[in-house]
Amino acid sequence: MGRFASASALPPPATAAAALRFGAAASRVPRALALTYSTRPWRRRHLCSSSSSAGGGGAAATVEAVEAARQGRKQVGATPQLYEYLLANVREHPVLRELREETAAMRGSQMQVSPTQAQLLAMLAQILGAQRCIEVGVYTGYSSLAVALALPESGCLVACERDGRCLEIAKKYYQRAGVAHKVDVKHALAVDTLKSLIDHGEANSYDFAFVDADKKTYEEYYELLLKLVRIGGLIVIDNVLWYGRVADPLVNDLKTISIRNFNKKLLEDNRVNISMVPIGDGMTICQKLVDT
Ligand SMILES: C[S@@+](CC[C@H](N)C(=O)[O-])C[C@H]1O[C@@H](n2cnc3c(N)ncnc32)[C@H](O)[C@@H]1O
Repeated sequence: MGRFASASALPPPATAAAALRFGAAASRVPRALALTYSTRPWRRRHLCSSSSSAGGGGAAATVEAVEAARQGRKQVGATPQLYEYLLANVREHPVLRELREETAAMRGSQMQVSPTQAQLLAMLAQILGAQRCIEVGVYTGYSSLAVALALPESGCLVACERDGRCLEIAKKYYQRAGVAHKVDVKHALAVDTLKSLIDHGEANSYDFAFVDADKKTYEEYYELLLKLVRIGGLIVIDNVLWYGRVADPLVNDLKTISIRNFNKKLLEDNRVNISMVPIGDGMTICQKLVDT
């Protein structure tokens, strides 16, 4: 707990050089633990509280989480060097970069998806020829802006977020990037917004959805989105690897169990095709196959 608290007080390194310096310590961590870390503050708290109940494995995971939190990496299993290389090979819109830089100074900045993830989301929406999209969990708008930029002028993204202050930042950047007319911001609990869309007859009318909000509600978001997305459309779920904790049998806190169970449900769900992709903290791409 103490070691963890001290890590929280140490922000991730601001420069690539610093990241590489911290990486030297990380490279000495056994490979089995290399996936087990969190760069997101609320996840660090989560890791901390669960480590005591998880026994030795949980404690080791916490130590690794400390190292990775210092590194500021948002890619499971990547060395700092590889992460820098990945970042250097992303085509990032200048306004996305500005948003990332403004958010970096904010509390909770690690909640943002990585530029590599945002690029993949945008490409998936483009390949689908998506017109109508939904995002659950907007924060300051990085992933939603990436998708909105990929949409045609007639496209629309319903952006669900409960935090009004984060939404003010997101809206500023939608304006700055010239996509505000494509984003329908819903400041409310996401479940309420999704139910209301269904009640208004919008089932089977969306092409693409991205889920990146409270993990305990993933199953409910998924079931509601399965109704809203058309056959052939995609639902992409973030954090499915939970910094490697899903694969560690010694970690059995409620959030980890809930994500593990959710992954199992997706694996067995014949209504969708799935592909679990180890990008960022892991994303599962689900394609709806049948009418629901
Ligand atoms: C991981 S962050 C989203 C990061 C975002 N996708 C990005 O790339 O910047 C999760 C967000 O979900 C929001 N959230 C959590 N529970 C929610 C709920 N029940 N309804 C709406 N938003 C919620 C949080 O306020 C937070 O901003």
